This record gives sequence, C-alpha cells and structure tokens, in this order.
Amino acid sequence: MGICEGTAELHTEAKIPLIGLGTAAVNQNEEEIKAAVATALQVGYRHFDTASTYNSERPLGEALNQAFQNGVVKREEVFVTTKLWNNQHDDPVSALKTSLENLHLEYVDLYLIHWPVKLRKEAAPFHFKEEDFLPVDIKSTWQGMEQCAELGLTKAIGLSNFSSKKIEDVLSYAKIPPAVVQVEMHPMWQQRKLREFCSKHNVHVSAWSPLGGSHTPWGSTAIMENPVIQEISQKHGKTRAQVMLRWGIEQGVSVLPKSYNKNRITENFQIFEWSLDFEDEEKMSKIEQRKSFRGDMFVNASTGSYKTVEELWDGEI
Ligand code: A2P
Repeated sequence: MGICEGTAELHTEAKIPLIGLGTAAVNQNEEEIKAAVATALQVGYRHFDTASTYNSERPLGEALNQAFQNGVVKREEVFVTTKLWNNQHDDPVSALKTSLENLHLEYVDLYLIHWPVKLRKEAAPFHFKEEDFLPVDIKSTWQGMEQCAELGLTKAIGLSNFSSKKIEDVLSYAKIPPAVVQVEMHPMWQQRKLREFCSKHNVHVSAWSPLGGSHTPWGSTAIMENPVIQEISQKHGKTRAQVMLRWGIEQGVSVLPKSYNKNRITENFQIFEWSLDFEDEEKMSKIEQRKSFRGDMFVNASTGSYKTVEELWDGEI
C-alpha cells in the first residue's frame, strides 16, 4: 500500500484517488447531481462515492456515461464505489447487479458492506421498526461479497462503519480480504486506533464526512468552527475545508467531501500543491474527539444484533 500522485494503492494493486466526490444528501435532485459530477470531472476528480440507499446511483451513472461518450474520460480512469444496504445482506450479487443497472456500468471499482447491520427486505430506508432487525451474519454476507468480486462485478470489496474488532473478524475468515474500510473521519474524529490497525493489515481507509458533515442531519458545524482549524487556515491562506481535507490525505486516507456547489467542488480539490507542517499536525492531534454520527438508529435493545451504541462500535466510541 503506497501513496503516489494523489492516489493510494490497494492490496489489489488498483489505485484509489485520494479525493472523491461524496453523493450522500437529503432531498436529492438528479439534475443537481449530474451537474456536480460533470463539474467534478472537469476539475479533475476521478473518484465517486455512492450507495444503493443514497438515490444518487442513477444520476451519477448518467453523468459518467455522458462523459465517456463525450470523450471527457474513459471508464478505466474513474474509480466508482457503491454499497450494499442493510436489507440486502442475504444476496450481495443481486444487490450489486441492481446497483450496476442503476449506474449503467458493467463493474464498480469498489463494493462495500454499508453497515454491520442486517434488516429485513421490507425495512424502510431510515425508520427502522423493531421487527425490521435480523441477526447479523457478516460471514455469509462476506461470502456474497467475494462472489461479487469473483464474478467481475466489482474490482475490490470492503467494509464501511466497521470497528477494528469487526474488521479483524472478517480478516480471520476472508478468502478475499477487505481492500478498504470507509468510516466517519475528520479532525474531530481522527480514528487513530482504527487507522493503525488497518495500516498493519494493508486495508486502505476512506473518510466519509471529512468536513464533519456541516449542515447535514448526521454531522455538525463544530469542526468547521473549531479555532485550531480557523487558525491554521489563516496561517496558510487556505479555507477551513482545504485544511481539513489536506490533513486527511496527509494521514494517507482518501477523503470523500460532498458538495454539489461548483465553487466548493473546485475549492475542495485544491489540496495537492501545498502542505501542513509539523506544528499544524501537532495542534490538530490535540483537538477534542467526538464522533458526530453515533448510529443510534442501528441499535435496538430488544431485537437488534447490537443492544447499545457501544456494542455497535465495540467500545470504539
Ligand atoms: P454543499 O453541498 O452546499 O457544498 P461532508 O462531506 O463532511 O459530509 O460535508 C458536507 C457538507 O459540507 C455539505 O453541507 C456541503 O454543502 C458542505 N461543504 C462542502 N464543501 C464545503 C466547503 N468547501 N466549504 C464549506 N462547506 C462545504
């Protein structure tokens, strides 16, 4: 696993670009997503992150296919990630085939188990009832993910929102080890323990909400408003978002900021020709840690596989 020219190398030997466009938002507007993807491609983004539950697969796929047809970029030059939702754990192959239809792609570059949580098929996307929760069986779901890779539907497979312990469990039985784990990560939730674990096991880390998810229901503006970030941003003449994203890539992770705004998409990509210094890193390492998205919705005291948030994260919260 190495880092070169804005990419990191996965254990599959594929290169993952260190910045990707995130596409999770409430009230998704297809035209807005298509325009954002087209802008991002022009600016230089070659990495796009979606999920079957985001309602962004279809517009992302349309914008990419348009770009392929217009010769803006070739399929093999972009890295596309999508994810298996909690009510699809029984059949990752069928779930990924549906995602590929939505995306109008023959394969994705990375397919992730979105959460270590299993729900019945009928479960509504985000309002789970007690009867929706099923006993989680990651081993059998992982076998389905391995089949996806063996069938060539995805180049790599991985995990999202898994604790170090849960990743270790998967590593103990995986025929194909996870190439990536995607987790909440920003200067206020630095994931030092998990990153150390992943580095030892050659698992690349991607950061969702690398800007702390400001103005989203799952994030907060606290990190954007943190005085340390403000000070470093003034010192370098960079925006606070650029400081946070630069910090992320200097940690060796890939960052997936979401923006559908042309100026902010452009701003977020300008993180390669300058760097933070030792003093900045020191100051940032001391920022008080607080996870924004605790995942209470994935916990159920009577029917869930996790009775408490601490169980969901194996104490890593
Ligand atoms: P918008 O889509 O209007 O640009 P995260 O990627 O950490 O989840 O954060 C996403 C949030 O941060 C969105 O509300 C997005 O708003 C906002 N955002 C993205 N880029 C920037 C930026 N450069 N400056 C300020 N806010 C940003």
